[in-house]
Amino acid sequence: MSADVTSAAELKGCRVVLCAADDVPAGRMLRVVVPEAGPLLVANVDGTFHVTADTCTHAEASLSEGDLEGRTVVCPVHWAEFDLATGAALCFPATRALAVHPAAVEDGQVVAYIRGSREG
Ligand code: FES
Repeated sequence: MSADVTSAAELKGCRVVLCAADDVPAGRMLRVVVPEAGPLLVANVDGTFHVTADTCTHAEASLSEGDLEGRTVVCPVHWAEFDLATGAALCFPATRALAVHPAAVEDGQVVAYIRGSREG
């Protein structure tokens, strides 16, 4: 199973174990609350794990309750779309990007290297 960032040298920030890789099968998403970073979204896109902020930048919906379409998450409330790899808002009504955190699978666990603040 691959991950966004495979080289430990590329990983920076506070390492946090989020869940077992098996907890998030391909094509699924999981909301994980991390006190230091707020709710995070773990998404498995064909074996590649992405970790972003879980809160929509438009009106604070939980993206884990939305749809995963390829590498795009669709907000369940007003259907804004975000690219999980870059965090970019792909359409209105969202205009601000999601925070994206480097992620990897280590010993069967999805870990994220949290950077930045709770904003996202
Ligand atoms: S709350 Fe997500 S698009 Fe409005």
